[in-house]
Amino acid sequence: MRFRAKILALSVVTAIMAYSWRDTFVAESLRGAKVLVTGASTGIGEQMAYHYASFGAQIIITARRENVLKKVAEKCLELGAQKALYVPGDMSNTTDPEKVVKFAVEALGGLDYLVLNHIGPSPFAMWDGDVEHVRWLMQVNFLSYLQMTSSALPHLEKTGGSIVVVSSMLGKMCTPFVGPYTATKFSLSGFFGTLQHELAMQRKNVTVTICVLGLIDTQSAMDKIKGYTSMKAYPATDAALHIIKAGATRQRESFYPLYTYFGSLFRDWFPFLRDLFIQNSYNYEP
Ligand SMILES: NC(=O)c1ccc[n+]([C@@H]2O[C@H](COP(=O)([O-])OP(=O)(O)OC[C@H]3O[C@@H](n4cnc5c(N)ncnc54)[C@H](OP(=O)(O)O)[C@@H]3O)[C@@H](O)[C@H]2O)c1
Repeated sequence: MRFRAKILALSVVTAIMAYSWRDTFVAESLRGAKVLVTGASTGIGEQMAYHYASFGAQIIITARRENVLKKVAEKCLELGAQKALYVPGDMSNTTDPEKVVKFAVEALGGLDYLVLNHIGPSPFAMWDGDVEHVRWLMQVNFLSYLQMTSSALPHLEKTGGSIVVVSSMLGKMCTPFVGPYTATKFSLSGFFGTLQHELAMQRKNVTVTICVLGLIDTQSAMDKIKGYTSMKAYPATDAALHIIKAGATRQRESFYPLYTYFGSLFRDWFPFLRDLFIQNSYNYEP
């Protein structure tokens, strides 16, 4: 009898989870959508640009390298984007975030999605005490996100738009070799988690989606972890599509791949075993 009750409870929980995780995304909702994607010259940002393009969105892409952006924008037009423009910007420069948003709003006549994805390069190594690098990375990976959000919010309020923040499992759980990067991702979780509450309490029709990603097979990530770990990396194009769907369906927090959800859920249950597992999953000789 007890066994049956347990099976029943498990089935109910599974059914609720399957219902809440069902795919409610409607591709048509992105046709003509006005989208700004940052860090779109390579990696996940580039893949997001291609997906938005194939859904018929109007896109502005930004990063530092103009020649690369030009090629990505051309491919977006081939894939079906209603509009695809690019604007070079360096997010370590404190005036560029506002300039980029201004360009996007003027070129598109408004904004539906602000997709914050860019990151500055940071070494995969034990922290060497370099505080200046952390300060610089905070500007690129964190403060520029806030500057763009601040500039875009009035426009997003007009359209009932969305802010999509690309974060990481490393914004939820501490691991070695990534101190400065992790600091910026934890900051994003804290700030944008607060903003979610405040927008809801002010009854503003703007949503914030925080995407928690695991290891993704972009060139920069693969180069960094080479020799340190043999962890499986997931495809950038799938991660990009997951982020777009999460934003379009106005989810609060979204996880890709699924292990990041369970990792976040069970993070603090067995801290000793967790830390042992993390430290032993890297190749390192002091
Ligand atoms: N790949 C992973 O394993 C992984 C895991 C978890 C989370 N994520 C998150 O996913 C997002 C994308 O990661 P990714 O692996 O696709 O990164 P990536 O391939 O290294 O791309 C980074 C992008 O940011 C741009 N960028 C770099 N410095 C910049 C600056 N100072 N100003 C403006 N743009 C700058 C780069 O273009 P330019 O060089 O042309 O400027 C590039 O377009 C990040 O938020 C990352 O934290 C990635």
